[in-house]
Amino acid sequence: MRQRLLRPLAAVAAFFACSTAYASCADDLAAGVDLWQEPNDTIAAILEPDCYAWQLFVGLNWPGDPANQAADPSAVLGGEGSATWELWRNVRTGSAGEVFNIAGSDPGPWLLAGAPLVARSSSDVDTQPIQQLAFFDGLAVPQIDEVFPVGVNETRMNESTYTFVRQNGLYSLEGLQSAFDPTSGVMNFPGNAKEIKARWREITEAEKPRYHWTTITADGAQKTYGLTALHITTKDLPNWFWATFEHIDNRESEVAGGIAGHEGWLDPSIDAYTCPTQPTGCDKSPAVVSGTKWENYILRGTQIDFTDGRGRPKVLANSIIERGFQRTSSCITCHSRAAYDSAGQMNPIFLPTPRRTGPVGSPNPNWFFTGDVTTRMQTDFVWAFIRACSSASTDRCR
Ligand code: HEC
Repeated sequence: MRQRLLRPLAAVAAFFACSTAYASCADDLAAGVDLWQEPNDTIAAILEPDCYAWQLFVGLNWPGDPANQAADPSAVLGGEGSATWELWRNVRTGSAGEVFNIAGSDPGPWLLAGAPLVARSSSDVDTQPIQQLAFFDGLAVPQIDEVFPVGVNETRMNESTYTFVRQNGLYSLEGLQSAFDPTSGVMNFPGNAKEIKARWREITEAEKPRYHWTTITADGAQKTYGLTALHITTKDLPNWFWATFEHIDNRESEVAGGIAGHEGWLDPSIDAYTCPTQPTGCDKSPAVVSGTKWENYILRGTQIDFTDGRGRPKVLANSIIERGFQRTSSCITCHSRAAYDSAGQMNPIFLPTPRRTGPVGSPNPNWFFTGDVTTRMQTDFVWAFIRACSSASTDRCR
């Protein structure tokens, strides 16, 4: 177990090994629009993060082949059907393709025999992102004064992430407990690990051409949902690469005439690739996605470090998923807190006071240590472990 979990130096070496052919992100992005390729580029992630975010956006939104649970290289960007990430394994207990089942048992091989992952039902999605809930004594309670826009979300792991979880037996509380290693105190996912979190809202027939959409069946009725927000994280960097995209319709708040429940974009989008002369707030999508439904999605920003070079905290938010705390949302800081104690209990997501204030800046060693002793094992920025059930569970754990 220990050997498989802990190979930081080998992992760093592997990042650079896969990135030796780097010339320019723009060229790779253009090539990736003509013919699908899996983005996995540490140098682009460091030097041209906004361009690299679009490379990931194109690669992961490429139409998928349900039989292979992977991209369909014969398809074209913007084509019909599920995006590649929609065929990844769903972390929600009780969903099709679940990673963390109620019994805490082995969720099986990556490929699901004949599983119709594309047919979503209400058991495949959550109504609120988990970080919008507060946890006290293990119970999830909604944050106070919460008005959350109507919609659903889902969290998915790619094959490499899933395989790591499975091979190390990390799909149950007991598995996490036995992986608790006070000597290292950390896990290390492989260099091509990727995860997404997506948010959907119900849309009308007329809105369909401007959205990537799916259908969700609930209580016998099928409804159309449009993709409204997409978080992407990849292990191209030791502390992961972070990017978030939103549909342009999210820009205005409800008060300014936008969609009901929407808070609007409180901080400007930053995209130095699409808008080299005006990287802040230009709210455009790049030419490579023009003429497809994807041209309606805007890169809100990327994050590759806790602070800037002068020590000021970096923040990045999605106005839907991080609604209510956009100004204190730091993807990398909050995810660094993903850690559990020797009983398998994850860190509380928000500190009790002040409510609805996300952690920003560098991680605090007190989140992981008591004195010099490791009291929490860091799960390599992966929060989904909060879903893990014990073999004694009789219901969904989150
Ligand atoms: C205040 C805490 C917090 C902040 C800030 C935050 N997240 Fe998360 N994130 C979570 C939690 C909790 C989950 C687990 C959700 C689940 O299992 O569905 C999660 C899940 C995810 C996932 C799925 C992978 C995983 O961790 O299991 C991705 C991808 C993701 N977040 C990206 C982002 C990005 C990008 C940002 C910044 C724009 C961000 N997050 C900001 C708490 C946070």
